[in-house]
Amino acid sequence: MASAMLNGAECLKLTRGLGFSGSNLHGRNFPKFGLVSSFGCSKAATVSMTPKCSLSASRPASQPRFIQHKKEAFWFYRFLSIVYDHIINPGHWTEDMRDEALEPADLNNRNMIVVDVGGGTGFTTLGIVKHVDAKNVTILDQSPHQLAKAKKKEALKDCKIIEGDAEDLPFRTDYADRYVSAGSIEYWPDPQRGIKEAYRVLKLGGKACIIGPVYPTFWLSRFFADVWMLFPKEEEYIQWFKNAGFKDVQLKRIGPKWYRGVRRHGLIMGCSVTGVKPYSGDSPLQLGPKEEDVSKPINPLVFLYRFILGAMAATYYVLVPIYMWIKDQIVPKGQPI
Ligand SMILES: C[S@@+](CC[C@H](N)C(=O)[O-])C[C@H]1O[C@@H](n2cnc3c(N)ncnc32)[C@H](O)[C@@H]1O
Repeated sequence: MASAMLNGAECLKLTRGLGFSGSNLHGRNFPKFGLVSSFGCSKAATVSMTPKCSLSASRPASQPRFIQHKKEAFWFYRFLSIVYDHIINPGHWTEDMRDEALEPADLNNRNMIVVDVGGGTGFTTLGIVKHVDAKNVTILDQSPHQLAKAKKKEALKDCKIIEGDAEDLPFRTDYADRYVSAGSIEYWPDPQRGIKEAYRVLKLGGKACIIGPVYPTFWLSRFFADVWMLFPKEEEYIQWFKNAGFKDVQLKRIGPKWYRGVRRHGLIMGCSVTGVKPYSGDSPLQLGPKEEDVSKPINPLVFLYRFILGAMAATYYVLVPIYMWIKDQIVPKGQPI
C-alpha cells in the first residue's frame, strides 16, 4: 500500500515492474513503477525518482489558490507568526521530521555557507546550525514578523537575518554551498523561478534542498489544498529541479510519525527534494517576466475575500493532523489508519 508506514521518514524506491502497484499523487496507479518501501530503516534512504511516468500538467493559473501570492502570504504570516512555532509546527513539522528532511542536504562541514530561504521563525535554521556555524547561515524571508521571532532565538543570534523574496534573491551568483528552503515554496507564485534562483546562488557542486507539501488524493483534502495554496505533485518538484539545470535530483518522503505513512490527505511537509549544481554561473533556464508584480495596486475587497477563503482552507489543514493523531491513538498499532 502507498500508505506504508513511515517512521519519521519513509524509505522508498521507485522500481520498474517490481513490488506492488502504488498509487501516485493523482489517485491513479503508476503504470510502470511500483513504490517499494523499506520499513524500519534506521537511516532513511534518500531515493532518486526518475519520473519516466508521464508528468502531470500543473494546475491552470486560473484555478484559485487564495494564499499563493506574495501579498496574501505576507498578511497571512502577519497573524500566523504569533502562533506559528506553537500551533503549526507541532502538527506538521516536528523536530524529528526536520532532521530527517535535512539529512539529504548533506550539511557536512561547519564552514559551509548556507542560505535558508523562507526561513521564517528559524525552526529549520535551528536544525541547520546543529551542523554549520551560525555565522555562515543567512535566514531570508519576506515577512518581518516571522523574522522577528527568529531574531529572538539564542542559537540563531549569529545568523544573518534579512528580508527578501525567494524569487529574486539578494545573493551573488555562485555564493552558497547549500540552499535550504522549508515550507515556503507553496506560497511562491512561480515556484520554477524560485528554484532557478536556488541554482543561481549556489556554487559549483553546491546542493539545494527544498522541503515542501505534497498533493492529496482524497477528494475533500484536494479541494481544500487547491483553495489554499500550492501542493505540488512529487514529479513536479523533480521536473522543476531538472528544468533549472540540477543534476542528481532526489526526493525523500517525510511525514509526521502518527500519520503511519498516510499520504492521501497530502502533507504540508511531505518531501525533501535535493539537486546538485553541475556548472558554475546562472541556470540555463530562461524565464519571462515575474508572474506577480507586488507593486501593483489591488482591490482591497478582492484581497479580503481571497484572504478569508484561503485562511478557511488553511483551518482544514490545522484539523487534519489532529484527526490523524486521534486515529493513531484509537486504531491498534500495526493496522492501517
Ligand atoms: C511555513 S513558513 C516556513 C518557515 C520555516 N522555513 C520553517 O521551517 O518553519 C513559510 C515562510 O515562507 C515565507 N515566504 C512566503 N513567500 C515567500 C517569498 N516569496 N519569499 C520569501 N519568503 C517567503 C513566509 O513569510 C513564511 O515565513
